[in-house]
Amino acid sequence: MSESTIALVTGANKGIGYEIATGLGALGWVVGVGARDAERREAAVAKLRAAGADAFGVPLDVTGDASVTAAAALIEERFGRLDVLVNNAAITGGVPQEPTRVDPATVLRVVDTNVVGVIRVTNAMLPLLRRSARPRIVNMSSSVGSLTRQSAVDGSTGPISAAYSPSKTFLNAVTVQYAKELPDIQINLGCPGFTATDLNNFRGVRTPSQGAAIAIRLATDIEGTGGFYEDAGRIPW
Ligand SMILES: NC(=O)c1ccc[n+]([C@@H]2O[C@H](COP(=O)([O-])OP(=O)(O)OC[C@H]3O[C@@H](n4cnc5c(N)ncnc54)[C@H](OP(=O)(O)O)[C@@H]3O)[C@@H](O)[C@H]2O)c1
Repeated sequence: MSESTIALVTGANKGIGYEIATGLGALGWVVGVGARDAERREAAVAKLRAAGADAFGVPLDVTGDASVTAAAALIEERFGRLDVLVNNAAITGGVPQEPTRVDPATVLRVVDTNVVGVIRVTNAMLPLLRRSARPRIVNMSSSVGSLTRQSAVDGSTGPISAAYSPSKTFLNAVTVQYAKELPDIQINLGCPGFTATDLNNFRGVRTPSQGAAIAIRLATDIEGTGGFYEDAGRIPW
């Protein structure tokens, strides 16, 4: 069995996920680049490897049971275990997102990717994580999933949204339940801050590398489970 720490990052072909893979690779970890598109995945793996990271591609669509099962089988065959899982893949669902105008199909699609996708991947990887001496799961959430911040009078946390923001609130709630059920696995939520990526047409003000920092800290340093963090510390639910 490999001595190195084995990690899998979902949605690692671009944006924050790619930078999380970069950061974990720089630690000397073996990093699985989970991505659904073969061309984008292999381009990311090649770029990471050229930069010195021990990266490998993992075909992975978080909305597909067969794809997720195959991803777990691939990691099982190559390494026999998984130490760190970063559930990063997500979609916004586009516009409109106001509750009065949103297409219910959009809500279902966003929840399937951002919440059920995390459950699907986590449960498939769980037997492999249980073989780790130090298993950790990092779920990429967003401060827009904080009901406390959504209810703040200054209304500063994101646009009105019936799909993306509530999907992150749902993810937070599910993560708390995992933390209760799995006391031997550290599982936490991170918010990258408003980061310039495809997700927001590059309107974010942080770089993807800055956005990746909280996930890397949760994968490595921060002790405890069932918490919701940004760079500055805990985020209120
Ligand atoms: N950017 C921000 O300001 C911000 C703020 C708060 C939280 N976040 C969170 O941070 C995480 C990363 O976001 P980002 O800004 O880096 O977004 P991004 O650039 O749009 O990247 C999203 C990644 O998820 C992948 N993905 C989407 N659906 C997938 C599926 N069904 N199966 C597998 N992969 C899938 C995408 O793959 P494709 O290339 O194939 O589409 C892409 O690799 C997300 O969880 C997001 O909610 C971002």
